[in-house]
Amino acid sequence: MGIWPSFPKKTPAARADGAAPGAEPSETEPLLTVSGVERGFQTAGRRIQVLKGIDMTLHPNSLVMLRGRSGSGKTTLLNLIGGLDQPDRGTIWFKGHPFHEWTDEQRTEIRRREIGFIFQSYALLPLLSAYENVELSLRMAGVPRNQWKERVRHCLSLVGLSGRMHHRPFELSGGEQQRVAIAKAIAHRPSLLLADEPTAELDSQMGAQVMGVFRDIVREERVTICMTTHDPTIMEVADHVYEMADGRFQGIA
Ligand SMILES: Nc1ncnc2c1ncn2[C@@H]1O[C@H](COP(=O)(O)OP(=O)(O)O)[C@@H](O)[C@H]1O
Ligand SMILES: [Mg+2]
Repeated sequence: MGIWPSFPKKTPAARADGAAPGAEPSETEPLLTVSGVERGFQTAGRRIQVLKGIDMTLHPNSLVMLRGRSGSGKTTLLNLIGGLDQPDRGTIWFKGHPFHEWTDEQRTEIRRREIGFIFQSYALLPLLSAYENVELSLRMAGVPRNQWKERVRHCLSLVGLSGRMHHRPFELSGGEQQRVAIAKAIAHRPSLLLADEPTAELDSQMGAQVMGVFRDIVREERVTICMTTHDPTIMEVADHVYEMADGRFQGIA
């Protein structure tokens, strides 16, 4: 397709599944496997244990939700999955890469080309148009310049914003800004998209639009989306829901 950036593959680790390091997972092979993960924090002389033994599997091409009360550890887990943080115990394998034992530098390299992030607060650059925001993400991922135009237009069209390409964030609604953020996060073709409460600041109609876009992206871009929420109404569109309570997953929906 000619759109993938040509990154050097320097992933020496053996895969848990025995396949070549960095190989594309098949449709049935997990994209990410979390086993026995524990994470706690030391604050003001007291230690709080947030994750107490998490097991989780993300398959290619699926939409997975993490649900739980505020403070239950959803963001903590998302940070671990995205390679931003490391567990105290347990293992996290992402496409054959052992995130639990890798250095920050190694995880950053994988993250840059394989993982996209979406936040509650959109995180767009205010002086750049929707088009320029998405283009910046391609530039930062090292995608060749001659592929930018087609890819930016494709991503903005996927999120239904072809008619708003040259608007800046302040000229867009909250839902539209979040859709630009989605286009920006998928532009470099990550295999995993992590979204931390992406609908929390949207009304229910805009939230439903974002969820519709997520479904389209899973189908058309073959990405896996893992998102957090505490909104029960949007969980119907998930392929799988993990319910977090007291540092563990409860009965699975
Ligand atoms: N870096 C940190 N240092 C200390 N405590 C933290 C840190 N990150 C998270 N926590 C604590 O861990 C708990 C879970 O937080 P979080 O993962 O943000 O929950 P959620 O996203 O489900 O609301 C909270 O009590 C929070 O204060
Ligand atoms: Mg959170």
